[in-house]
Amino acid sequence: MDHKVTVVGAGFVGATCARRIVEQNLADVVLVDIMEGYAEGKALDIMQAAPIEGYSTKIVGSDKYDKTENSDVIVITAGLSRQPGMTRDDLLKANAKVVGHVAEETSKRSPEAVIVTVTNPLDVMTYLTYKRSGFDSKKVVGMAGILDSARYRWFIAEEMGVVPSQIQAMVLGGHGDSMVPLPRFSTVNGISITELLPEDKIEAINTRVKNGGAEIVNLLKKGSAYYAPSAAAVEMVKSLLYDEKKILPCSAYLSGEYEMKDLYCGVPVRLGKKGIEEVIELDLTEKERSLLQKSGEGVKSVISQLEI
Ligand code: 2OP
Repeated sequence: MDHKVTVVGAGFVGATCARRIVEQNLADVVLVDIMEGYAEGKALDIMQAAPIEGYSTKIVGSDKYDKTENSDVIVITAGLSRQPGMTRDDLLKANAKVVGHVAEETSKRSPEAVIVTVTNPLDVMTYLTYKRSGFDSKKVVGMAGILDSARYRWFIAEEMGVVPSQIQAMVLGGHGDSMVPLPRFSTVNGISITELLPEDKIEAINTRVKNGGAEIVNLLKKGSAYYAPSAAAVEMVKSLLYDEKKILPCSAYLSGEYEMKDLYCGVPVRLGKKGIEEVIELDLTEKERSLLQKSGEGVKSVISQLEI
């Protein structure tokens, strides 16, 4: 296999990412976890499914970083997940320590890689990854908008009784309670949902999307979502590895776009082999723009608590 992906963190999100990558034959995977034997065990289990499932890509596990050398893409999922009653920002201090270390260890072994950060609080951890890797900001990108938009798509599909694949949707902003679902840019086969659903229904769906992660945490009682988060991360990995140049909502470094500077925040980007090729600036209404900027200000205030 020509492509190599490192996934750091062999918990539910990381292991499911690794599994999706090999099941789709996208790349060979190195799965890393500091817990001795944990990543190795998961990797072996996933490989033993290969004869049944029919994939030919390989996955190896390790508690060290040596095998990650010269990866094309690095996915950082390491860190604690949210527990009931915890906000994403509660995770800040614990996860900053983990993510900072992972960014340093992986970037020095794979200087050409693109890093996809998945650990929460997402936009802040992506900023930290950017700083600690020393990479160009275009080569560091955060996974959240695809997940939030996928939740939006599913809720719209459910409400309208149509197959989910007919729905496209856009959720921008920080991956937190201030995220910004954009009904005008959310469509059923090209028809904006503002033409198809009454305002109160759209408002109810928007609220559910903003609480999408917490809804699952509360149901699971222990841990947080991982099927949809891993699917979202792997969509990014695929666009990067295969230079698909997909336009996807991702957490990207902003240097003036949407009148925001020096932070990571969810915006539409074009993702190709070299990372973020373009940040796409939508022509937002006054209200949409101000919600997005407010969300960005929230991210910035958490960034300011970081010791970088
Ligand atoms: C989610 O939204 C935990 O942030 C993650 O499910």
